[in-house]
Amino acid sequence: VLRLASRTDPAWTALALERLDDVLLDHAHCEKKAAGGALRLLFQYPDARALQEPLAALAREELEHFERTLAELQRRGVEFRRQKPSAYGGRLRTLVRGREPERLVDLLLVSALIEARSCERMQRLAEAIEEPQLAGFYADLLACEARHHQVYVDLACESADSQVVARRLAELAPAEAAILREPAPFVRMHSGSAPPPSASH
Ligand SMILES: [Fe+2]
Ligand SMILES: [Fe+2]
Repeated sequence: VLRLASRTDPAWTALALERLDDVLLDHAHCEKKAAGGALRLLFQYPDARALQEPLAALAREELEHFERTLAELQRRGVEFRRQKPSAYGGRLRTLVRGREPERLVDLLLVSALIEARSCERMQRLAEAIEEPQLAGFYADLLACEARHHQVYVDLACESADSQVVARRLAELAPAEAAILREPAPFVRMHSGSAPPPSASH
């Protein structure tokens, strides 16, 4: 079960289909960031014993996804390069409380929501993309991202009382959905549903 407070607007999917190369390039960066995020937690919380193996395994999987996404880019003749990210990650980070133990719970739950949204968007892409290989690529990855969502929720429950975790998730999920309702200037894996009228990619 993905604990998300909204379903992706079909307008996002329509836009993503028009700009699949942009979305795939952003996706490659997202996989690398997902690995980096897990590693950052390992560096910041060496004393949180429960985190170590699950996040090491998760980081490894995300790096493998990064490599697979690079291969898809290459197959499509798209150069891997820098790209302006969506505001999503930065906006979510502002929701993380500064003091422990709330900070760790928030970091884990924000990661859980990002994984859930990635999974949900990959599902939309897998359903909408006509090219079998790319559709299959997303269908294949989304099961992993659903599992990562659960890993982060479980780790939050090991770090705090599960009722506290559920309450905080019930606050963060609508906040994540609200961030995705903000108009975005370009289409990305986690961008808002519609660009402002004058924007190009
Ligand atoms: Fe991934
Ligand atoms: Fe993931």
